[in-house]
Amino acid sequence: MFSTCSLLPSCYSPPFPTRLCTQRLQRGLTSSPFARGSALATPASLLSAGFGCAPVQAMTVERDLHMATGDGEHSYAVNSIFQRKTVMETWPELHKAVKEAVKSLSPGTGSMMVAADLGCSSGPNTLLVISEVMSTVRAHVRDNGGTMEVQFFLNDLPGNDFNLVFRSLEELHSPVAVAEKAAVTPCYVAGLPGSMYTRIFPSESVHLFHSSHCLIWRSKTTPQVVVKLFREQFEKDFWLFLTLRYKELVPGGRMVLTFAGRKQGELPMHGGVARVWELLAEALQHLVQKGHIEKKKLSSFNMPYYSPSVDEVTQLIEKNDLFDIEDIRLFESNWDAHDDSDGDAVPDCSSSAENIAKIIRAGIEPLIINHFGEHIIDELFMAYTSILEKDLEKGKAMCPVMVVTLKKSMH
Ligand SMILES: C[S@@+](CC[C@H](N)C(=O)[O-])C[C@H]1O[C@@H](n2cnc3c(N)ncnc32)[C@H](O)[C@@H]1O
Repeated sequence: MFSTCSLLPSCYSPPFPTRLCTQRLQRGLTSSPFARGSALATPASLLSAGFGCAPVQAMTVERDLHMATGDGEHSYAVNSIFQRKTVMETWPELHKAVKEAVKSLSPGTGSMMVAADLGCSSGPNTLLVISEVMSTVRAHVRDNGGTMEVQFFLNDLPGNDFNLVFRSLEELHSPVAVAEKAAVTPCYVAGLPGSMYTRIFPSESVHLFHSSHCLIWRSKTTPQVVVKLFREQFEKDFWLFLTLRYKELVPGGRMVLTFAGRKQGELPMHGGVARVWELLAEALQHLVQKGHIEKKKLSSFNMPYYSPSVDEVTQLIEKNDLFDIEDIRLFESNWDAHDDSDGDAVPDCSSSAENIAKIIRAGIEPLIINHFGEHIIDELFMAYTSILEKDLEKGKAMCPVMVVTLKKSMH
């Protein structure tokens, strides 16, 4: 969620006024209890609820959302160290889930394990997840004997830079990997474009799902003035995601999900994730004031993003009743992944601001360019960097990250 919302309660005139969003029909299931009758059901319901409407070229998430492509200076591949660090924090959960998933291989189908990374993006993090899963599987095979083949699917939205992913797969074929492949645990990698809010696998065909830093992205945009609507869209998406993956997982299959969350007691419009978005909203405002962005363009922009609390996620999973929670925890990670210093103070606000701005830019540059045009991008991120630098004088920008391991329920 693009949380400019901390500006809301006092004046209720957010920098991004309301807009109507394109309502994309969810393909696939309709079993979500939120699917009908919610405030998001139709644009008309929003109008009748009294919300405004800006005439806009609607963003569609499936079309417009992807990380910055390639491996150049501003690409996600080069600027995803924050995500890499936090994903590596979740290795204990991943190792445990892989070992459990291996147990779910049915004797009849031999030793073919299917794993999938949902929202794999492009760059080193994509390979990191495959390597970690494969080394855990290989350790299992070494300890227990036998052989095992792994089919590994890399999923993301169609705009993802799959070409870069496929080119980088060569790195997996290092002499060591080749030797191991020739031995007992070959890994066959395939790309799978499509939204994880649709069915993407045959029934009961997957043993392990992994997904990092994706579930905060909503399947569609929402009017951003009402925090409740963002939460409802998150609930709706997460419910759908659980229902779809339940069908695709084999009995006993596991999912390890990592995404930015919210600390207990923190309001959606406050805290770690909201802070970086709010400062970006300030930078956009700055460009409006300079006349470099039209006010109505800004009015029609929002971020399809929401970071939930552990309680929200737990309650939803329990209500959905298709998965058992094996582990759930929240940890904090510095948005500036290069800063490993102790304490709250930022040692070098200028370099931290640059590092954070690069991470945010790599994540949202395509959305910004699609909406505002390419001409504003450098100026926007220069303004953002200097606003961030000032803000960091207050202390480090920390991001709460949630990791949850789910087991498919037996009922
Ligand atoms: C911040 S990147 C995370 C990439 C990688 N997993 C990592 O941890 O570094 C989020 C990724 O989620 C993808 N994504 C967002 N919504 C998605 C959806 N509905 N289906 C599939 N992928 C999605 C984006 O395209 C993007 O590549």
